[in-house]
Amino acid sequence: MKLAPPIILAIESSCDDTSAAILKGAEVISNVIATQDVHKEFGGVVPELASRAHQKNIIPVVDSALKKAGILKEHINAIAFTNGPGLLGSLLVGVSFAKSFSMALGIPLIEVNHMEAHILAHLIKDGSPIPDFPFLCLTVSGGHTQLVVVNSPYNMEVIGETIDDAAGEAFDKVAKIMGLPYPGGPLIDKYAKLGDPDAFPFPHPKVGKLSFSFSGLKTAVLYFLQKEVKKNPNFVSENMNDICASVQKTILDILFKKIDNAVKQTGIRSIAIAGGVSANSELRTRLAEQTKRGWKVFVPAFEYCTDNAAMIGVVGYYKFQQNNFVDLSITANARMKI
Ligand code: KG4
Ligand code: ZN
Repeated sequence: MKLAPPIILAIESSCDDTSAAILKGAEVISNVIATQDVHKEFGGVVPELASRAHQKNIIPVVDSALKKAGILKEHINAIAFTNGPGLLGSLLVGVSFAKSFSMALGIPLIEVNHMEAHILAHLIKDGSPIPDFPFLCLTVSGGHTQLVVVNSPYNMEVIGETIDDAAGEAFDKVAKIMGLPYPGGPLIDKYAKLGDPDAFPFPHPKVGKLSFSFSGLKTAVLYFLQKEVKKNPNFVSENMNDICASVQKTILDILFKKIDNAVKQTGIRSIAIAGGVSANSELRTRLAEQTKRGWKVFVPAFEYCTDNAAMIGVVGYYKFQQNNFVDLSITANARMKI
């Protein structure tokens, strides 16, 4: 007899999005995300404000995920939650909620690594192609930039990462220098569509074959703009589209160079992207073009790129199948590694 797929409630609260999802097996029934606008005026996430907003949002978000899915809490078979990496105060809200929920309902508790979840979002059953193992994943978010060999849902190895800023941070910091609000990534993406990517060339970092570095780019853009603004105070507003297109091209050229190196080193030609920056339209287009080289490419559905609980739920489902549960002594791990 075939067992019915488990119903999993998943919680994500690692940074500035409070999210809850209901999954039936690897299928997403509901995925609710409350984004915190409170950080916009500060040009970045303020940790204390983030944890307060999570506290305010978590119960309404879970309630809404249950209602949208048409599920009663008594039907849930397990609760999965992000245990790290992330902001400690933010993580603690999700972890405490998940522990209390598991205790109140007497259901198993599943801890999930946020970075693994970004990658395994590719295993969500939503009709899009699911990569075969092993595949290579470029995980690009606001906090991380990693190249990962994914051997199975339970076995992955980081083969390269950033030595300073993450790719998302590069987008956000450059946007801040230009006076754009946080998060700047989506705005750079939008303005870049109207600009010339070759208008202003910026240097590439000199680091190891599979390492990334973006702090130099931020400084190069800062010095370049300071120099130009001295000559023309309206330089940024007059050249916004070209600056955005040039910065975006530099970041994407760096990312693709490293993917090339990783393909050469591992021989793996199934390539996936994950994390918030994988929502970038030019990154998605450029990756799709690589099929001409015989690569298989996998781009997550837009809604599963930035932080969401559905991706936590799919990891929860795989761990559920292995009875990989944790007890109530579990505590948030802000520096959790893959
Ligand atoms: O994965 P995520 O939602 O949160 C973290 O775990 O960090 O990633 C957020 C990052 C931010 O840096 C944001 O600017 C970037 O993803 N991002 C983008 C785009 N959409 C989100 N960067 C470039 N282009 C986009 N369209
Ligand atoms: Zn993330």
